[in-house]
Amino acid sequence: MAASGVPRPLVVANWKMNGLRRDGIDRARALAGLARAKGHGPCDIALCPPATLLVELRAALDGSEIALGAQDCHATESGAHTGDLAAPMLADVGCRYVIVGHSERRAGHGETDEAVRSKALAALRAGLVPIVCVGESEAERGRGDGVKVVRGQLDRALPEGVAADALVIAYEPIWAIGTGRTPQAGEIVALHAMIREACAARFSGGTAALRVLYGGSVNARNAAEILALDGVNGALVGGASLDAVGFWTICEAAGRHVAAAPGR
Ligand code: 13P
Repeated sequence: MAASGVPRPLVVANWKMNGLRRDGIDRARALAGLARAKGHGPCDIALCPPATLLVELRAALDGSEIALGAQDCHATESGAHTGDLAAPMLADVGCRYVIVGHSERRAGHGETDEAVRSKALAALRAGLVPIVCVGESEAERGRGDGVKVVRGQLDRALPEGVAADALVIAYEPIWAIGTGRTPQAGEIVALHAMIREACAARFSGGTAALRVLYGGSVNARNAAEILALDGVNGALVGGASLDAVGFWTICEAAGRHVAAAPGR
């Protein structure tokens, strides 16, 4: 927790399926260089590259305080699951975080909320911090069902009885991902408040330490405004995380608001 009693912001780079060794390692080194040059990072930072880069990026990030994360995990520890990666394998190569339930996996791999919950539990068993993604589609929003949809996702996908700082929630409206469009500030504040309230019954010890990230077209230009909003405890960044300097600008924007507003 930051000195103000609110959680320290977390900014997560989700590189998705981008990056070969030659550019991925250079980009991670550039980011680590910025972090080392500025001393302790402005906020908690995590980098989630494609799995092919995890081992080499662990080395590239050494000494930078930037944590490593993965983009998905399987719900079980081992076994006959061709092409999948188990959470203990990710912990084994130095991951601290794992994204679960990203809308691109829900859409592309048919992941249900129940599957997402199993993955979050597997991550917790392996000592990882799951970043559980929720968010409504454009059609659901258009029907005025956004809040109901996200609440349902939380009900089904979140494990119960865990400590609020054991996992992270990312609110990513699907229609905002990669489109350059973002919700109105008031919509983000309302959704984040609803998420925190919906989580209160599920976590042991309250939600003060819970981090709720916003994701969807966050970039170096809009980060300061979004990250200053009530209840926004950081960002999950896709496209704009592929540029080290731009991503660092987003991290700095998050850091500036650490102590600014009690209750965020
Ligand atoms: P963009 O930042 O590219 O919109 O992607 C957001 C996202 O999906 C992060 O997980």
